[in-house]
Amino acid sequence: MIRFLVLLLVSLFVACYAQNTMEQEISALLNQMTLEEKIGQLNLCTGDFGEQGPFLRDEYKAWIAEGKIGAFLNAFTADFTYNLQKMAVEKSRLKIPLLFGFDVIHGFRTIFPLPLGEAASWDLKAIEKSARISAIEATAAGLHWTFAPMVDIARDPRWGRIAEGAGEDTYLGCLIAKARVRGFQGNDLAAHDTMLACAKHFAAYGAAQAGRDYNIADISDRTLWETYLPPFKASVDAGVETFMTAFNEINGVPCTSSSYLFTELLRNQWGFQGFVVSDYTAINELIPHGVAANGKDAARLALKAGVDMDMQGHLFIKELSILLNEGKIDIKDIDEAVKRILRLKYRLGLFQNPYAYSNVQREKEKTMTKEHLEVALDVAKKSIVLLKNENVLPLSKEIKTLAVLGPLADSQKDLLGCWCGAGDYNHVVSLLKGIQSKVSADTKILHAKGCNILDADEAEQKKALEMAAQADAIIVALGEEAGMSGEAASRSSISIPGKQEEFLKELVKTNKPVVLVLMSGRPLAIPWPAQNVPAILQCFFLGTQGGNAMAEVLFGDYNPSGKLPVTFPRSLGQVPIYYNYKNTGRPVSPDKYTSKYLDVENSPLYPFGFGLSYTKYQYSPLRLEKSYLKKGESLKITVAVKNVGHREGEETVQLYLRDNVASITRPVKELKGFEKILLQSGESREVSFFLTPEDMSFYDKNMKLTIEAGTFTVMVGGDSENLMKAEFEVVD
Ligand code: NOJ
Repeated sequence: MIRFLVLLLVSLFVACYAQNTMEQEISALLNQMTLEEKIGQLNLCTGDFGEQGPFLRDEYKAWIAEGKIGAFLNAFTADFTYNLQKMAVEKSRLKIPLLFGFDVIHGFRTIFPLPLGEAASWDLKAIEKSARISAIEATAAGLHWTFAPMVDIARDPRWGRIAEGAGEDTYLGCLIAKARVRGFQGNDLAAHDTMLACAKHFAAYGAAQAGRDYNIADISDRTLWETYLPPFKASVDAGVETFMTAFNEINGVPCTSSSYLFTELLRNQWGFQGFVVSDYTAINELIPHGVAANGKDAARLALKAGVDMDMQGHLFIKELSILLNEGKIDIKDIDEAVKRILRLKYRLGLFQNPYAYSNVQREKEKTMTKEHLEVALDVAKKSIVLLKNENVLPLSKEIKTLAVLGPLADSQKDLLGCWCGAGDYNHVVSLLKGIQSKVSADTKILHAKGCNILDADEAEQKKALEMAAQADAIIVALGEEAGMSGEAASRSSISIPGKQEEFLKELVKTNKPVVLVLMSGRPLAIPWPAQNVPAILQCFFLGTQGGNAMAEVLFGDYNPSGKLPVTFPRSLGQVPIYYNYKNTGRPVSPDKYTSKYLDVENSPLYPFGFGLSYTKYQYSPLRLEKSYLKKGESLKITVAVKNVGHREGEETVQLYLRDNVASITRPVKELKGFEKILLQSGESREVSFFLTPEDMSFYDKNMKLTIEAGTFTVMVGGDSENLMKAEFEVVD
């Protein structure tokens, strides 16, 4: 015990000492800096990439030498960053190293599934690992900072950026946010394979009205606090070092000028110590938002709100010294921002060795290694969701003739999805290639596109139908192009684009077993396929190893275990649709005057948390440790899950909670826990959950977290609809 205390004291002393040294060195540096050099640290500029590789605009060369750029985005490769760093260190007066940032969203060179797809794995360890590997590859290319994770909750599939997040649920979103932050940042920021993470976009960007990108968010405080803010808070708790502003406004205040968000909430209430970067030209956009008359005004608003770094807007560099001369900002505002940025450069170890990350040898050794590709395959297969299977899957590898059709069947580019870092599609295993390497040597594979993503193609369709006629089974890969989701890629329709569904109908007419492999960056509304196609796999965009992952599932080497992180609607008219809705005073019933549509039922096509397997699981009734508990007590809930099918499988056991009667209306259920378990055929396992007081609490009328006495319903099952239920009561 004494030894432990001594060790603790020594490590506290060392940490304090290091902190003091850092603060002293940074203050000393700040004292030497001219105003221009200080403002330079707040200036983030973009690198460019041409056919010959990365290059730098001429004006930036001069700026680096004058100390007018503190950081770059989109500048990478060990060689290129080395040269830029050399310019900064050798040509600028104070030799302050540059910081290099990039959108490492779901991989750098090895590309992992789209974040929304990866969220379908519900596998936090795998998600953390994919972020870890992304950081290893990115840092080896000279990068110090990723603009990830995007922790925006999204309930509207029209919004293209739903692809970049963890889906619709706040609880799952918080855990995934933490896993990604841990993966990128690791335990030691000074290690050369860890990088700064960035929680974005603060805040409520996912609430874009009508799903149109950059649109306003007009939401209640309650929705903001209950749904959109928690993953940001979780990121702070996980130690995220940077934050990015959101483009949108919330209730009339553009986020990039919100002192409430960045100063009051993030820094003062949540204790965030890192720095805040604007989104790309988001400071300039305060002008069209209509809260700033000109660039000077915009720069003032952003700095005053607590934004430290201007991404590619060039407004801080242009306007801050003028604002200072006019007395509209204080030198302290600038100094604080500079210090926040310098601290992170310091903690990354850049002052000790500015070139540590730009290492050509490491870049070669650490890029797309065998291990990275194996992990990419593992995550990709875990991200596949089996939506329907009428005894078609898995297919036999000995199948005689197989038609592999559809515009996405042999696409490599699309499998990368949006925001695919420095991924090269030439390294991507397409679905066709994955299948070819999986089936027996005697299997004949026939391949045609049959149609394009957007248009029909008669000749292609004819060819494809002839192949279908010869085949014993048909695999058809349909969906969206990679560019149909991501930034500025909202859609007003969430159907399978173009004429693809018509092509699918022709295939179904053959009466052959048809497997629909659906790729998309969002939930698509697929009522016809859901009704008429015997097997459907939702694959999002699975990355470099996508084709191998899909083939493993199609031929049964891997038993699918993915669960939807977002609701799949029956039709766009149901949007927004999410599992944790409120009951209303007139919940749906056969009565006419209840909350429903005339032309579509309320339920989704596939609910949140849903995903089939090649085996079946049976849930026992719930066992509650007690039926009454005092406020502040926790509750243990146990369920036995049995694999009653014929092969091993992984099931994600999900726990939901409802506060039945409260002073504020509560959702019909909220996810409060889950566990992914592996079960052999016939095996049964008990899974226990602990509901904590925090799980039972909510924001009351005064937006204070509270637990109220009364009954709760706890629900456990394999998706958000098929659940075993029990009640308990909280007493005063
Ligand atoms: C704009 C996007 O909104 C943001 O997420 C991204 O990090 C920046 N561009 C930089 O590419």
